[in-house]
Amino acid sequence: MVRKRMKTALGLTTALLAVGTIATADEMPPETSLSGLQNELIGRADIYEHGSLASYSQAPMLDALVDSGALPPVEERLPVEPIIFKTGAMVDGVGEYGGVFRHVIGGRPEGWNWMAGQHQGWGGINMAMQECLVRQGPRWQVKAEEQTGPLPNLAQSWSWNDDNTELTINLMQGVKWSDGDAFDVEDVRFWYEDNVQDENVASRMAKDSFGGGAAMEVIDDYTFKFVFSAPQAETIVENLAYIQGCPGPSHVLKDQHPAYNGDATYDSYTQSLPNDVVPPVVLGAWVPVVHRPDELVIMRRNPFYFKVDEAGNQLPYFNEMHFRLSTWGDRTAQAVAGTGDFSNMEDPGNYVEALKQSQDEASPVRANFGPRVLAWRMTLNLDAAGAEDDGEKALRSLFRETDFRLALSHALDRDAIGQALARGPFAYPYVSGFASGSPYYDASASVYQPFDQAKASALLDGLGLADTDGNGVRNLPDGGADIVISTQVADNANADRKQLEAVASQLEEVGIRINIRTVDQTTADTNTTGGSYTAIFGRENVIMPTRETCRSWPSGPSCPHFNDGGERLPFEEELAAKVAAFQSTSDAAEQAQLAREMQTLVTENAYTIGTVQVPAALLVNKRVKNAHPGTPVFMYEWAEDGVVRERLWTPVADQVDEVLPDTIAEY
Ligand code: GLA
Repeated sequence: MVRKRMKTALGLTTALLAVGTIATADEMPPETSLSGLQNELIGRADIYEHGSLASYSQAPMLDALVDSGALPPVEERLPVEPIIFKTGAMVDGVGEYGGVFRHVIGGRPEGWNWMAGQHQGWGGINMAMQECLVRQGPRWQVKAEEQTGPLPNLAQSWSWNDDNTELTINLMQGVKWSDGDAFDVEDVRFWYEDNVQDENVASRMAKDSFGGGAAMEVIDDYTFKFVFSAPQAETIVENLAYIQGCPGPSHVLKDQHPAYNGDATYDSYTQSLPNDVVPPVVLGAWVPVVHRPDELVIMRRNPFYFKVDEAGNQLPYFNEMHFRLSTWGDRTAQAVAGTGDFSNMEDPGNYVEALKQSQDEASPVRANFGPRVLAWRMTLNLDAAGAEDDGEKALRSLFRETDFRLALSHALDRDAIGQALARGPFAYPYVSGFASGSPYYDASASVYQPFDQAKASALLDGLGLADTDGNGVRNLPDGGADIVISTQVADNANADRKQLEAVASQLEEVGIRINIRTVDQTTADTNTTGGSYTAIFGRENVIMPTRETCRSWPSGPSCPHFNDGGERLPFEEELAAKVAAFQSTSDAAEQAQLAREMQTLVTENAYTIGTVQVPAALLVNKRVKNAHPGTPVFMYEWAEDGVVRERLWTPVADQVDEVLPDTIAEY
């Protein structure tokens, strides 16, 4: 690393001596943190543990249903050893049942078949329905000595064989789906073998990304093992958290899957749980019971939920959850106004105003800034062989040239992009790799490409890219076409669009044209994971090297999505080896070193073209109890998971009226 950085500095000697910045030319500029978060860290078992209690109770609204025989008694609905949330970790203690938790989101439910990669609209709705083998969100509160691997969830415990090539997982026993059906190993097998490992299914976990490809062996109804081809460690288990390791109801889905139904196609399978048919069968704390398109999703408590508090009260405390289908900007506006209960404040455009209002004593919300975890980038498709036509192939081949990517990076005035987003100290340059809020980020391991149009132009000239027809846009070599990069951006995120417009005008100055293609969020999501674009612009949260790895890292044969199955660049091979090494060790010092090496590789090669990164603030309405102060918007997972919504509550006197009191999902 040191050698390479010296070489870069020497290469620039003549140009830089003039301005006297030789020593710092390729280092990240100094960063000022705005984070006001202070956390008291605790042990894993202080948050929750599996276990059994002498007796259990339930939300009063369920009493009549049990009395009438419509619902089995609570002891029969709970597993043998439910997850028990500890009172000591609840800032406001054991809760009161009832009321509504009001979300506002910018997404729309694509469908309920998350096993086939469908999302439910983001902003916490996916996570309210899905439960995963392990959990990452609450790890932000775990003290350093206990930061090895994820927290348990449906996977109650696990163990390794002597050479760490076999991981045996014990599932919770007696968990039930929201329709009362038993959750068992068949659900996990179906998820893994018929979804993850079936290349025709757009599963959220990429095929063979798990430890380089692992075979699953079922042992009994609640036990199975993964067999890896090389030794692994606790870190790899993080892959089984949201959004990758979340089984779906096999008793519903198998009949729709082509492996079990000769009439089904992969397309019909993906579409088999359409968003207008409710309720879907889930393991989550709440079940969608109403979906009014573009308006609202109402979720009601899942009477089979497998978690309790220490007093034996079945969770969640809230009876109802709303997801108002609006815009991401409106999420913050409504949280500030008090008509919504929660927002990850992440559009810098409204930071100043929202901060001002939330600092008022009378404000219904509290706001706390964390580290910079929101980072935006332009991702170029590097899969030249996978291009549909010659024009696209020529562009993607150009994207594979390191000098081309470096030129784009040098052409960006990141300070100007940041100030266009929000005046003030919020934005800090982002190049590629980890966001600065990641525990694995190290500024000194990052190679920066400072704003330098002359350098950008020289790099482009060096690739033989001249403006041969004098129209202001450089042409592909040998009299080729204008270099016009069609770049997708989702239509519902202000900060993304605003930045891409700035990027387009800055790149135009060095003779590269960006053609902005606005698409809806679902299309942007689908194209991102399917690798169908020339270039795409958006936010990516590169914090944990084990989370949604295929979006950013060469973590499997078909990863990253932006070089989906394509020929790897030489540095990508090196990077892939480091990612695999990171995932297969739990030695913190070794991981930190590997992360630094990964960071250097992606930044010196401008793997993606980053713009800026900003801190985010979490807004939670003050009437919501147990929202732990200091909960980050994003650390191991988004705040919707980190804040542990199943244990949030509101005193009866402050509760918002339920739209569907006495209702539970039909089962
Ligand atoms: C969207 C939002 C984030 C967060 C996630 C949760 O991406 O922009 O703030 O709510 O959904 O999945």
